[in-house]
Amino acid sequence: MKESVDLKNKILELKKERNAVIMAHYYTIGEIQDIADFVGDSLYLAQKAATTDADVIVICGVHFMGETAKILSPEKVVLVPDASAGCSLADSCNATEFKTFIDQHPGYKVLSYVNTTAAVKALTDVVVTSSNAVQIVESFPKDEKIIFGPDRNLGNYINSVTGRNMLLWNGCCHVHEQFSIRKLLALKEIYPNAKLLVHPECKDSIVKLADCVGSTAALLKFAVNSDVNEFLVATEAGILHEMKKQAPNKLFIPVPPEDSSCSCNDCSYMKLNTLEKLYACLKNNQPEINVDSAILDRARLPILKMLEISEKLGL
Ligand code: 13P
Ligand code: SF4
Repeated sequence: MKESVDLKNKILELKKERNAVIMAHYYTIGEIQDIADFVGDSLYLAQKAATTDADVIVICGVHFMGETAKILSPEKVVLVPDASAGCSLADSCNATEFKTFIDQHPGYKVLSYVNTTAAVKALTDVVVTSSNAVQIVESFPKDEKIIFGPDRNLGNYINSVTGRNMLLWNGCCHVHEQFSIRKLLALKEIYPNAKLLVHPECKDSIVKLADCVGSTAALLKFAVNSDVNEFLVATEAGILHEMKKQAPNKLFIPVPPEDSSCSCNDCSYMKLNTLEKLYACLKNNQPEINVDSAILDRARLPILKMLEISEKLGL
């Protein structure tokens, strides 16, 4: 306990010395979220990375979030606690194969989820996150031909909500694919009054049962503002930390994965972020995120487009 307090104090001292800002995603461990200057979903973290006046940005999340911060603030040093914190969804879309897919479909606009490499973003017209994907798709004319990648579940969800027929890349997130419909139905019997909160990266069979489908920030907002006191949560279990903090009298029950005796569904990549590694990255000024300058310049355009549309929409 004392060691952890000492470590937190050392991180805060180094942060001040380096004029650094710490940004954390909701899926990181509670201790990281508690020490961060900003905690949020992918859109919020991108918005903060684009506007901070700190010299150093530390992204406690996964690699693509570090890349997005670097693309938006190329003159700043962007650090991550663990450079091997990747994302199975981003890995499911290789840039060379995605380019071939785009070339096979001339005349299509290309929309990419933010959970992609910088190289995939560089092939994209507009980036989206789960906070703004539906609205950004709806900002295109009804008959616009659209390619959407890489998440097939999010793509299917957007198609069903908007009535579009976007062409989907066949990628997915290994965490969100894992939720067990069998265990979810059993939990619904135990908690018949609970509302079901679902991230749109989940499979259709889970999304169909949801009371709220949205980004981590949207699920949190729904839970805090709801009159109901019990929630089943079908997204990575790190979000429960902020849910319990903002609504301490409510009950949040994580929906478990199918192939595990564990009751939570954790992203192993997000959980690579620890206080020790956060301290070390500030001390050693590495691992640093760098992006090839040609890719950075091209990838910046669709991210800025997303931020511009989100601002207009008040998101
Ligand atoms: P959010 O933008 O909803 O926080 O999602 C990020 C993510 O990685 C989901 O798996
Ligand atoms: Fe990627 Fe899935 Fe982890 Fe989100 S939960 S960072 S999509 S692997």
